[in-house]
Amino acid sequence: MRLNRFEYLLMNNPLRAAVQRRFEAPRLLEMGGSARGGVALELGCGRGVGAELILDRFGVDSLDAFDLDPRMVGLARQRLGGRPVRFWVASGTALPAADDSYDAVFDFGILHHVRDWRRAVAEVARVLKPGGRFYAEEVLEPFIRRTRWLLDHPRTDRFDAEQFRAAIEASGLAVVDWRQWWGWVAWYAARKPVQAGPGGSGEE
Ligand SMILES: C[S@@+](CC[C@H](N)C(=O)[O-])C[C@H]1O[C@@H](n2cnc3c(N)ncnc32)[C@H](O)[C@@H]1O
Repeated sequence: MRLNRFEYLLMNNPLRAAVQRRFEAPRLLEMGGSARGGVALELGCGRGVGAELILDRFGVDSLDAFDLDPRMVGLARQRLGGRPVRFWVASGTALPAADDSYDAVFDFGILHHVRDWRRAVAEVARVLKPGGRFYAEEVLEPFIRRTRWLLDHPRTDRFDAEQFRAAIEASGLAVVDWRQWWGWVAWYAARKPVQAGPGGSGEE
């Protein structure tokens, strides 16, 4: 679901960028570790501040990133010109990637905008390589309920922190750390288990 005018302004301003740089990226990095040298995917890239952080702080070598809103993808392309990022316009519920493609997938606050967010989480699990990492920051149902006079979000079947954690686990990923703030926002780091080889016990 695209952002309304107010949220569009909220997401495209220096305060949002500062929160992402100073608080969210360091927190997710501390929780999930770096993805140095990997190939990553960002869901709902917005204007590309997250893409910069994924390259510069998480250390990935190359990034694929998409957003439902062509205006956002245009802004992100401008911001990241010359960097190893491929952008496209798409929805998070059907990822145009083969199974086991990415070392890391990033979600900076998009899946609460997606009606079928469980399917999107399952898609994340599908496209991650064994051992790959999922980093997520999500906005929770109580925040959506209290701000519905101001912001447009799907209203049914939203999630709290525990429900989102359970959906990650149900998709086959292992949550390694999760935290929440006032039941409004939550952060997750998860890994896709490595399958046991013949005679091996596998990792995690
Ligand atoms: C709250 S904004 C976050 C933007 C950016 N990740 C950030 O942290 O600043 C949510 C973004 O998700 C995008 N979006 C909403 N529904 C989507 C969907 N189904 N698939 C892909 N992107 C979507 C919106 O266009 C918007 O850019």
